[in-house]
Amino acid sequence: MIITLRLILLAIFVSLSTNTSHVVDAKRNCGNNVKEACSVTRYKNLCIHTLSQFSNTAGRTPSKWARAGVSVTIGEVKNVQAYLTKLKRNGNLKGRNKVALSDCIETFCYALDDLHKSLGVLRKLSKRTFNTQMGDLNTWISAALTDEDTCLDGFEGKSGKQIKLLQNKVHNVSYLTSNALALVNKLASTGLGTITDP
Ligand SMILES: *[C@@H]1O[C@H](CO)[C@@H](O)[C@H](O)[C@H]1NC(C)=O
Repeated sequence: MIITLRLILLAIFVSLSTNTSHVVDAKRNCGNNVKEACSVTRYKNLCIHTLSQFSNTAGRTPSKWARAGVSVTIGEVKNVQAYLTKLKRNGNLKGRNKVALSDCIETFCYALDDLHKSLGVLRKLSKRTFNTQMGDLNTWISAALTDEDTCLDGFEGKSGKQIKLLQNKVHNVSYLTSNALALVNKLASTGLGTITDP
């Protein structure tokens, strides 16, 4: 009888302590929010690497992850834009590469513009215009991706250390943009139920 009682008490104690630790885990979530958010992207490791800083603030809200994805992409587009501008100013590239570089700088300017417009929309999402907003986001982020590809086309099949570095940086931007688009598509398919109005 006493043994049975002890066992029951033990069982209750064990189940209580397990439940408590689960509650704590759900709150902190130890980096699982970013993994879950990034699961819809194509370049998952890059996604986790660049967006883990938002894991606590974005939680499980798709609109916040979409915003984080576009913000990070804008930051990197600006970095690469500064790099391209420096290359041009230093006059490192010649001939066809020089022309390709100027084209790249132009396409990056368009891409940045489209990404800024996208961030603007993500900052004022509304239930009434949600479908139009999702359509605009898809159009603009896809256009940014196309612009980045156009930049790469100019250096297709070219070799050299400087060109390789440039290609790596532009590829990186296009992966970030692809991830941002996937996060926006996730938002579009989840809908507004999850949006916490600002
Ligand atoms: C790609 O972009 C991220 C985000 O800005 C940056 O942390 C990373 O160093 C970049 N990688 C390359 C190869 O440029």
